[in-house]
Amino acid sequence: MAQGKLLYAQSGGVTAVINTTAAAVITAARAAGIRTYAARNGILGALREDLIDTGKESAAALRALAHTPGGAFGSCRFKLKSLEDDRTRYERLIEVLRAHDIRWFLYNGGNDSADTANKVSQLAREFGYPLTCIGVPKTVDNDLVVTDCCPGFGSAAKYTAVSLLEAALDVASMAETSTRVFVLEVMGRHAGWLAAAAGLAGKTPDEAPHLILFPEVAFDEVKFLAAVDATVKRVGWCVVAVSEGVRDADGKFLADAGRTDAFGHVQLGGAGPEIAHRVTAALGYKSHWAVPDYLQRSARHLASKTDHEHAWAVGEAAVKFALAGRNAVMPAIIRSSDTPYRWKIQPAALADIANREKTLPRDFIRKDGYGITAKARAYLEPLIRGEAAPAYGRDGLPRYVTLKNVAVTKKLPAWEPARS
Ligand code: F6P
Repeated sequence: MAQGKLLYAQSGGVTAVINTTAAAVITAARAAGIRTYAARNGILGALREDLIDTGKESAAALRALAHTPGGAFGSCRFKLKSLEDDRTRYERLIEVLRAHDIRWFLYNGGNDSADTANKVSQLAREFGYPLTCIGVPKTVDNDLVVTDCCPGFGSAAKYTAVSLLEAALDVASMAETSTRVFVLEVMGRHAGWLAAAAGLAGKTPDEAPHLILFPEVAFDEVKFLAAVDATVKRVGWCVVAVSEGVRDADGKFLADAGRTDAFGHVQLGGAGPEIAHRVTAALGYKSHWAVPDYLQRSARHLASKTDHEHAWAVGEAAVKFALAGRNAVMPAIIRSSDTPYRWKIQPAALADIANREKTLPRDFIRKDGYGITAKARAYLEPLIRGEAAPAYGRDGLPRYVTLKNVAVTKKLPAWEPARS
């Protein structure tokens, strides 16, 4: 066994394929003779010295892990601030890494996590501690810059497009005597990538979704209600996909629940029911709504094969970059062609990714603001292509794995980060 260990941690909202990345990291590190620890509940586990020895997991468990949704070691929303403001926490982190001879730190998350990994690498350098930090991309929001897409998005996008297609068939069957308007709410607080993915369900203006509400387009109630009415009169029913992040012209979320999380983000949810309520109140049409919420980011049964392949590839590349000493980088997915779909992995500097957000380009949104363009479709389609379903047991349920998660013996005094 080579000297030094690798620490892997998951961060932020989990996805249907984040464990695919975890399985790839552990498998690749094992193949290179490197011991891998995982932090329980993300960075919190690293700070608390609550580490898991992944060496106790069998090869069969790792194979099942690659097809199991959720975050197998636990994830968290816990933001480390600047090196000045949070120095004690960063120093504690280095102390834990040093105590366990961790030489490679892989942080699997979004733009906040890229920032943390970048800062940890800076502090390690300052302390003269030999550490290579890698950010590993994931987020159903698909809002990381530099990378063409983010693992987790393709599967959530597939779930969204498929669910909308199926629900639309239901609505169409009953529209004459029952529901005329169906509203599906999708995730994405600032970026309309999942809302755009709903658009894949229909190819012509009369196919659902008839209207999409993006966070990038200010919500105009009068114009929207007129568009719903016109659709019902023309088609007989109307299916709407609405992003949880849709805002009015003043920038106020339609679905602001009035709460914030540890990252200071507003907790969203409720734009779907709100829109359905407004439609029924104004136009009198019977409506139904659905908020898939966590269903869309955990729907492993509908995972996209492309997404599964991306998730595995970034995990494998992260280990390769780490062992090659490529400090403060993230494996980015680079697309070279839509048709045929071709992509490769390249290292990108964490400093270019940290704390930045990629919203939907204007030329992905139809001129009237309610649909996607051919360019968006060409980008999105390859990402939902193919199936990577889990194996099913005789009980009819997927064979998901729960890992042993054997704790590593602590070496340091207990330490609990105060919640800010
Ligand atoms: O991970 C991204 C995301 O799924 C967003 O789309 C959503 O707004 C948010 O997470 C929900 O976060 P939480 O599960 O912490 O409430």
